[in-house]
Amino acid sequence: MTTSARTYLVRTFGCQMNAHDSERLAGLLEEGGYVAVADESPLADVMVFNTCAVRENADQKLYGTLGMLAAEKEKHPQMQIAVGGCLAQKDRGEILRRAPWVDVVFGTHNVGALPVLLERARSQRESQIEIVESLEIFPSTLPAKRDSLHSAWVSISVGCNNTCTFCIVPALRGVEKDRNRDEILNEVRALVADGVNEVTLLGQNVNAYGVELGEQGAFARLLRDCGEVDGLERVRFTSPHPRDFTDDVIEAMAQTHNVMPHLHMPLQSGSDPILKAMRRSYRAERYLGIVERVRRAMPHASITTDIIVGFPGESEEDFQRTLDVVAAAKFDMAFTFKYSKRPGTPAAEMEHQVPEEVVAERYVRLHAFTQEIAWQQKKAQIGREVEVLVSAAPGRKDEATLRQSGRARDFNLVHFECEERLRPGDIATVKVTQAAPYHLVAEGAPLVIRRTRSGDIWESAQSSPDTRTFLSLTPRP
Ligand code: 5AD
Ligand code: SF4
Repeated sequence: MTTSARTYLVRTFGCQMNAHDSERLAGLLEEGGYVAVADESPLADVMVFNTCAVRENADQKLYGTLGMLAAEKEKHPQMQIAVGGCLAQKDRGEILRRAPWVDVVFGTHNVGALPVLLERARSQRESQIEIVESLEIFPSTLPAKRDSLHSAWVSISVGCNNTCTFCIVPALRGVEKDRNRDEILNEVRALVADGVNEVTLLGQNVNAYGVELGEQGAFARLLRDCGEVDGLERVRFTSPHPRDFTDDVIEAMAQTHNVMPHLHMPLQSGSDPILKAMRRSYRAERYLGIVERVRRAMPHASITTDIIVGFPGESEEDFQRTLDVVAAAKFDMAFTFKYSKRPGTPAAEMEHQVPEEVVAERYVRLHAFTQEIAWQQKKAQIGREVEVLVSAAPGRKDEATLRQSGRARDFNLVHFECEERLRPGDIATVKVTQAAPYHLVAEGAPLVIRRTRSGDIWESAQSSPDTRTFLSLTPRP
């Protein structure tokens, strides 16, 4: 590494899909000789924005940030700005019209083109825009610089064949493309060899995995295959669609020792007419049936969800049905969203858009209600012994309180007391003594501490400057 190496900073908006793409962007840039900017610095020689288009304020945030960067760019003409991700795929030329000082615009299907586009923009002294319509190369074959040493995302499919009327994603990420099972498992094994002990399988609709390959039950089989990987402690996945959620997946979850008892399954609405208008082809009863079967098979499973309020045509009665499902499903956590009109989606053209003040009022009620239920669920955990995988990012108050943090098997965030500093990737069994709406607390020393190979690898990475960058080059096929 020379002192003259150009620095980079990748800022991510949006979901895990985007966060994972950002790891690939960082990996590509490191492979090209760029170095990550020092912690906390807001500026770098190359600024990359990986954008989201799923809800309104993403656009405003991006254009606001780009506006502020215009002045910086005047001061440092060598600086390059690149915009990628879903919003770039959607706005395309609009980005350069509104912010001509941007150097590179790239889409969701050609993440791998970033280094070449940066180089071309520099040599030709001209902004480069390259958006392609379908996936050129599965992004998992690109190098990655992972955010964590012990926990990794593994993409199993990209795109989505559903046509939910509120959602812009199918238009931006295209139809579903499944990744070959051997490639997925090879990546999982390579990650474990690198020190990973937790993987999260990623896809827009993970349990549709296999449709493209014409394989029934492929997702359940994939979960069971992950159970055979030595050294892999925890397997998670996100997100399933209730339509495709079959009982073989519940069985695989319950019977595979390292698949965690947590299901994040978007509900969106509890009203059948609204689900129909959303073109989500399940009904509240089916959703609750899945919840019941999951809880029967895994009594300590946690269930989390996404809910939209104020979809066009939503009446107070429809909204009440959503509250009913929330009460019946007893969600451990719910991400709640105000419906946001996405131009180009069918719902944007629908009549009976709900007035903003009505959406806002329902949102407040839904949020309070989901929080109350989540808190009750958490209180029920007091007295239980839970296994916590220590995380790399300390909780906000950890430094001051000598607490450490991590996730329980059911994905609950746990802050626990421990005099000894555990290493990220180690596992502590602790007893829950307090509950808050969004986390659990365990006072008193852990009952068991298990030092893991992931922890060992993290420790040796601390003393070796060469590996401190967490660079991991996953094998190319
Ligand atoms: N408005 C509000 N929320 C939305 N989501 C997706 N599209 C919209 C929209 N137009 C939410 C859904 C999805 C989550 C990722 O974002 O709840 O599950
Ligand atoms: Fe993720 Fe959806 Fe945003 Fe794209 S639009 S980044 S898929 S949340």
